[in-house]
Amino acid sequence: MSVIEVKASQSYKVHIGRGLLGRCGDMTAEVINPCRIAIVSDDNVFPLYGETVKSSLESAGFTVSCYVFPHGEQSKSHDNLLKLYGFLAEESFTRSDCIAALGGGVTGDLAGFAAASYLRGIDYVQIPTSLLAQVDSSVGGKTAVDIPAGKNLVGAFKQPRLVLADIDTLGTLPDEFFHDGMGEVVKYGMIWSEKLFELLESGDVKSHLEDIVSSCVDIKREVVETDEFDKGLRMILNFGHTLGHSIEKTQNFCGLSHGMAVAVGMYMITKAAEKNGIIAEPISDRLRRCLETNHLPWSVDIPAETLFANSVNDKKRFSDDINIIICKTIGKAEIVKMPVTEYKKLITD
Ligand code: GLY
Repeated sequence: MSVIEVKASQSYKVHIGRGLLGRCGDMTAEVINPCRIAIVSDDNVFPLYGETVKSSLESAGFTVSCYVFPHGEQSKSHDNLLKLYGFLAEESFTRSDCIAALGGGVTGDLAGFAAASYLRGIDYVQIPTSLLAQVDSSVGGKTAVDIPAGKNLVGAFKQPRLVLADIDTLGTLPDEFFHDGMGEVVKYGMIWSEKLFELLESGDVKSHLEDIVSSCVDIKREVVETDEFDKGLRMILNFGHTLGHSIEKTQNFCGLSHGMAVAVGMYMITKAAEKNGIIAEPISDRLRRCLETNHLPWSVDIPAETLFANSVNDKKRFSDDINIIICKTIGKAEIVKMPVTEYKKLITD
C-alpha cells in the first residue's frame, strides 16, 4: 500500500492499495472521531460495496445512514443536491457529523459539495471506486454540481479528511469505464512524467495498477500543494480539457465520456501546436499510438469551427485571452496564454 500526504489548506492522507474497503471504518476513525456518517453512493456502486463499507464503519463506532441516488451525470444536479441536504437534515446531521463519498467522479463531486455547503461545511472522506476518481477527482478538493448553463459551474474547494483508493474496486469496472479513466492517466504522463508515459506506451497497465494510481496521485499532490486554488500551475491538469469539454458539450454529454473526450482534446491540441510550429520536436504520433494502445480515441467527427465556438465559453477562459495547456515535450506542460483569435486560428487552420 502507498500512503501519500497532501499538504493543502487541510492536510490529509491518500491511501492506495488493496482490501481497503473492509478496513475503511478503522482508517476513518484515525482521522475523525466516530460520529454519524452518511454514505453517499449511486445505485451501481452501492449494491457492490455499500454493505462492506457500512459494516466496517459501524464496527469502528460510526452511526451510518445511506443516501443512494440514480447513477449518471444527470444526478450531479441541484435537484439531487437539495434532496441530499434534505436527507442530512432529516437524519439530524450536525456539524460534528460527516459524509463518505463512495463511488466515481459524480458521487465525489456531489457529496463533496454537499459537505462543503451543508451547515457551512462538514467533514467528508473520499472512497473513489473508478479509475478516473482515484487518479484525479477524489484528490485536490474540487467539488461541484452542474447547472443548465454548464458542467461544474457551481462548486467549492473543500479538501477531504481522507482518501481511500481501493485498487480492488477497479477489477469490477466495465472496460469502457476503465478506458475512460485511462484518458486522465495518459494526461499525467504527458504533463509531468515521461517515465509514466513509457509504462502506458507498453500497454501493460493492469499489472501495474497500484503504481500507476500512486504516480498520478503523487503528481496531483505536487500540483495541488503548489496551487490549491487553481490560479496558476493547477491549470496544467486541464491539458486536453478545453477541447474535451467542447466535445462533451457539442455531443450534449451523450457522446464520448469525459476521459475519452480529453484523449481527443490532448491529441488535437498537440497536433495543432505541432503544425503551427509551437512544438519543435514532433510528439503527436507517439501520443496517438499511446492512446490507441490504451483503447482511447484521438479524433472525433465534429467541425473544428464548432469545437472552437463551444470551447471559448469554457469557464477556464479569462477576458479576450484563453489559457491553453501545451506539452512541448512528453512529460512537461506549459500554460500558454493567447488571444482567442489566435486560438481560433490554431485549431481551425
Ligand atoms: N481535475 C482537475 C483539477 O483537480 O484541478
